[in-house]
Amino acid sequence: MALKSFNIAIVGAGRVGTLMAKFLSQVLGHRIIAVVSRSDESIERFLKRVKADVASKSIHDLPSEVEVIFITTSDSAIKEVAEKISKLENLNFKNLVVYHTSGVLTSDVLDSLHRCGSEVGSLHPIYSVSHFDYTVDEIKKIKFTLEGSKKIYDITKWIFYNFDSNIFPIDKSCKVLYHIACVFASNYVIALLNAIGEILRKANLNVDDKFLIPLVEASLKNADELGVVNALTGPIERGDLETLELHLNELKDKFPEILPLYSSLAIETIRVAFKKKSISVNLASQMLGLVSSYIGKK
Ligand SMILES: NC(=O)c1ccc[n+]([C@@H]2O[C@H](COP(=O)([O-])OP(=O)(O)OC[C@H]3O[C@@H](n4cnc5c(N)ncnc54)[C@H](OP(=O)(O)O)[C@@H]3O)[C@@H](O)[C@H]2O)c1
Repeated sequence: MALKSFNIAIVGAGRVGTLMAKFLSQVLGHRIIAVVSRSDESIERFLKRVKADVASKSIHDLPSEVEVIFITTSDSAIKEVAEKISKLENLNFKNLVVYHTSGVLTSDVLDSLHRCGSEVGSLHPIYSVSHFDYTVDEIKKIKFTLEGSKKIYDITKWIFYNFDSNIFPIDKSCKVLYHIACVFASNYVIALLNAIGEILRKANLNVDDKFLIPLVEASLKNADELGVVNALTGPIERGDLETLELHLNELKDKFPEILPLYSSLAIETIRVAFKKKSISVNLASQMLGLVSSYIGKK
């Protein structure tokens, strides 16, 4: 529970809007005084999960008592929504804090509100939010990055009282790089699982994309327990040039579409193996030479 209960409005009743509203009301004890979204369906779905005093499709219905606004619309709508809010005459902008939750956009898209005197921030939940029913226990574990106006860091500590250790400040100029890391950790893992499933089926195994998830989980467990670099096993880590060549040849013949993905990951894996000191500089450059010779091969 936070020390002070803030009056909060959510604009954008989607997946992240619902998750944030649950966290803010059910964990932190704040009051959701309004939810604004484009469609009745989204608003109804939201209200089934979180109570709000005002529910509307118009931004003009934001109540004057609002102290904190979370803009949880799609990225492309954030700036325009902020500009609309900045024109509302009933709000006390000097007492207003506004966040958006985009991973890649900075708080600059909230400039219209900062110019009115509001504190603004981009507060990004580092989570893959794909549905509306996360439990409070799951939500409590989510980490965030935060970037924004000067006072936003202290204010956020108040709003997220007791959970401020889950919030990591990030420099505005680093958000794109940070977002690339998140895309690797989330989207590209999914893309990898899809590729794994397709390779297995190419090998005539009648299994689904999830078949090797236990192996993925074992690798993650090792990375967690031993550290990422120490968790590396496999042919590259063992310095097995012949197996690497066998793989590259097989893909060139039987599944050339996957060759670029395999080659890119092999290059990164050679870097990790070298970092782990399990292969010499000589072997690493031999391996890199071999992989490079397959890049662009059909
Ligand atoms: N999903 C994730 O894994 C994730 C993780 C971290 C951060 N984020 C960020 O969180 C934000 C929301 O993402 P999301 O995944 O929750 O998207 P989402 O499920 O598509 O929800 C966005 C909601 O915003 C509403 N909306 C769009 N334009 C609007 C407008 N002009 N006025 C009012 N409401 C509007 C939509 O309304 P209607 O449905 O009513 O049409 C929709 O419900 C984005 O900035 C995203 O980058 C997402």
